[in-house]
Amino acid sequence: MGLTAETNRIVREFDYSDDQLNQGVSEFLAQMELGLEKDGTSLSQIPTYVTGVPNGTEKGLYLAVDLGGTNFRVCSIQLNGDTTFNLTYSKVAIPRELMTAKTAKELFSFLAKQIEVFLRTHHNEHFEHRMRRRFTFSNPEGFQDEEIFRLGFTFSFPVQQIGINKGILMRWTKGFDIPDAVGKDVCELLQTEIDRLGLPVKVAALVNDTVGTLMARSYTSPGKQGAVLGAIFGTGTNGAYIEKLANIKKNVPGSFDKSTGDMVINTEWGSFDNQLNVLPRTPWDHKLDEDSNNRGFQMFEKRVSGMFLGEILRLTIVDLLKQENIQLFRDANSSHNDWVSTTTVAPESGLFKQWGVDTAIMSVAAADNTPSLGTLRQALEDQLLVYSPSLEDAQAFKAIAEAIGRRAARLSAIAVAAIVLKTGKLNDPSWDGEPVDVGVDGSLVEHYPYFRDMMYEAFKTIEGIGEEGANKIQIGIAKDGSGVGAALIALVATAMEKNQPTPEVLSKQRSSIFSVGRIRWELSRVSWWQWAGVGLLTAFVASRRRDYLFGLWRRYVA
Ligand code: BGC
Repeated sequence: MGLTAETNRIVREFDYSDDQLNQGVSEFLAQMELGLEKDGTSLSQIPTYVTGVPNGTEKGLYLAVDLGGTNFRVCSIQLNGDTTFNLTYSKVAIPRELMTAKTAKELFSFLAKQIEVFLRTHHNEHFEHRMRRRFTFSNPEGFQDEEIFRLGFTFSFPVQQIGINKGILMRWTKGFDIPDAVGKDVCELLQTEIDRLGLPVKVAALVNDTVGTLMARSYTSPGKQGAVLGAIFGTGTNGAYIEKLANIKKNVPGSFDKSTGDMVINTEWGSFDNQLNVLPRTPWDHKLDEDSNNRGFQMFEKRVSGMFLGEILRLTIVDLLKQENIQLFRDANSSHNDWVSTTTVAPESGLFKQWGVDTAIMSVAAADNTPSLGTLRQALEDQLLVYSPSLEDAQAFKAIAEAIGRRAARLSAIAVAAIVLKTGKLNDPSWDGEPVDVGVDGSLVEHYPYFRDMMYEAFKTIEGIGEEGANKIQIGIAKDGSGVGAALIALVATAMEKNQPTPEVLSKQRSSIFSVGRIRWELSRVSWWQWAGVGLLTAFVASRRRDYLFGLWRRYVA
């Protein structure tokens, strides 16, 4: 079989028909219900203890950190209360060895160190001031730390949340693998390392990046109605939406505000259909899963997200290269100029290594629509060390890459469509003609050409949505969602801290207890030789001014 015929055969394997889309949506809705009934299901449907979305008037300075992919971000966010915010951030690549460290401490002490560096760099004055002024005081509930930064911890892995700042890590995803951390409270792991450095920081809220995205979109979104869904299509994929408390049948332990009647649910849809009832299964999907470190999990994510698409593409190309009779990257005269050149693939090409193909090259393939595919051919050379690829090579590569990208977008549409349908907002008269707003973030949705267009094309074929419904769905980018969202949740958490005064209350209390608390704290810092010095000085003054002091005593005391 020739290259074109074999390419077409592979492309067809990645087709996902309209019928399959509809079956996918029904299955997604069914698995959502199951996840709301009990734990341990494919779609985890994790209650987040976030019971409302912001309206743009929130104010304050908060810290946020974000661990969820290749980088660790630390930021401070000033919420201005008028739907705007100012964000200062720093980003550091997580050393690969820490992603698979032996102990959780290794990773979390690195994270705490980055927080310290950030505070010293961007908030030094504030930081030093707080370090100096830090003291404890007693109130009826016990000792409280007063001068501290509240921090929202965006931790984008499946976590069984048991409180607004408590959550047990269920499993790692996206290439992380530190078994020692599984089953532990990730907030406590971080707080312990923060405390070890003596930083004035309290982990106030634990947030999944999708929840942050939902919050951020609602804070900044211009519409009257908040966003109904926050979703990430990046290295990983997931979504969080607002559910009626009455529909959450499984136990939600601990206390939370019930007044809104709602709670944000982190679906963890990366694990939708781990049992493969409706997800496609090509030989390359199978191979990718077999070789992964979480076999049988994140089956939806493994077909949709940026971490995996490049690898699926690599596996198809490797298969083509194995076939002697297929002319891929073997052209004896592949040049498109006067030079005669032969295509070669360097042995150290990423094509021959697991995870060696970065998904970003798929965006190049999709964006290059020139007759000679010059940009793609250059990228093949620069990124994959395929020298002098021919036009036919590039065409085959592009066709397969686009098929994988298109399938990912159509599968993504299943998740968004199912949740939009579940909210019932498409036909809700109280929605008042407002679009049904979905906040999204992530490299794929931001940079893969036509990703959103392909999702809309899929929406139109879904029962209950159709052309009219698709036009009502508004998918908007929520940039920096995880940072701003985490700050917003830290704000809510601060106000919710049970029996614990919020910063405003604290500053009021301080004026009444300031002197007692401050004196007690200052005295506890005086060393024995300072006490001795004070004693000697007092004795000296007393002996020189004895008559004067007696006079004062007689006049005012005796
Ligand atoms: C994680 C989710 C996260 C998503 C996007 C997935 O691998 O399980 O918790 O929201 O990636 O970052």
